[in-house]
Amino acid sequence: SRRNFTIAIDGPAASGKSSTARAVAQELGFGYIDSGSIYRCATLLALRQNITEISKHTDDLVAMILKSTVEIKVQPSNSLNAMPSLGRLAVPEVQVLLDGEDVSGEIRKPEVNRMVAKVASESSVREAVLGIQRSMAARAKTRSSQNQSANNEGMPEGVVMDGRDIGTTIFPNAELKIYLDASAMARAIRRWDEMNNQLKDTKQQQKQQKQQQQSASDAQKAGSTTEAPTYPSVEEIARELEARDYADINREHSPLRIASDAVVIDNTNLTFEQQVYTITDLARERMGIKPKHADL
Ligand code: CDP
Ligand code: CDP
Ligand code: CDP
Repeated sequence: SRRNFTIAIDGPAASGKSSTARAVAQELGFGYIDSGSIYRCATLLALRQNITEISKHTDDLVAMILKSTVEIKVQPSNSLNAMPSLGRLAVPEVQVLLDGEDVSGEIRKPEVNRMVAKVASESSVREAVLGIQRSMAARAKTRSSQNQSANNEGMPEGVVMDGRDIGTTIFPNAELKIYLDASAMARAIRRWDEMNNQLKDTKQQQKQQKQQQQSASDAQKAGSTTEAPTYPSVEEIARELEARDYADINREHSPLRIASDAVVIDNTNLTFEQQVYTITDLARERMGIKPKHADL
């Protein structure tokens, strides 16, 4: 069987795990799995069944999780990303499908943010998600080896997974473990920036829709006027992130911890490219392949 390479990326909320992991996966031709989105899907399942007291309904919830399918679809990207903070790196978009339904937007909603750490604190939920994570990783690796057409540079097949307990619990033998961190304020500002970027997109879309409606027939004059969404302040975001970090660090079952053999990268003052290339170079070094960006 082929050589295998697993990269685990853990860290607190909004430390850059997901964008970094996606860029690293694209650079190396590896698969990518966002483990947080599995917990977010589990939370959505609970919310849709009006389950609010998770601890009283864990068996029902676990049954629902095991019955559902979660797919994480990576759309390779060659174009510049919409986020200026990502610099020149192309970061693939990820689509999350829950039983075939695109829930990418819904799983990022405030209701889910507020409940997900509670759902993730249940040991039986974590056990169910662990099984899903390991089988997804095996499938993603197989796909990665099919994508690496001529097996360039003797690259092994591989996967990048980000979350809270990937290097400590899910893949304790991962070939490379990264713990990403940044100051609480830097993280809150980044989330706020993201929301404002999305808000700009939404407003632009609404403007275009309006123009199209006006040029269309008069009959539909009173077309739907969707209200612009309102977003929280940086302080509110900081409070939400800190509450979630507190819950993730202090829970009983596989809490957020720095694995003893993890490489800690604080990116408060790093550019996105610096942090991505630091990781891809470390990976190349450990795979026995010549690093590309050793000059950074
Ligand atoms: O994107 P963000 O960092 O805000 O969160 P996420 O990675 O989508 O994870 C959402 C929540 O899922 C976390 O706050 C944890 O409670 C839980 N989670 C976990 O417990 N273990 C993981 N491996 C990944 C996520
Ligand atoms: O997955 P996680 O919640 O840890 O973070 P994310 O969803 O990747 O969001 C991190 C945000 O910080 C993204 O908008 C990045 O563009 C931005 N960022 C970063 O990740 N690293 C930097 N050095 C600077 C900005
Ligand atoms: O050993 P197994 O059949 O589960 O899978 P493998 O193909 O030998 O290993 C897959 C990847 O999972 C390896 O690259 C390891 O990084 C990781 N792994 C781990 O971290 N801890 C385990 N207990 C098993 C595998």
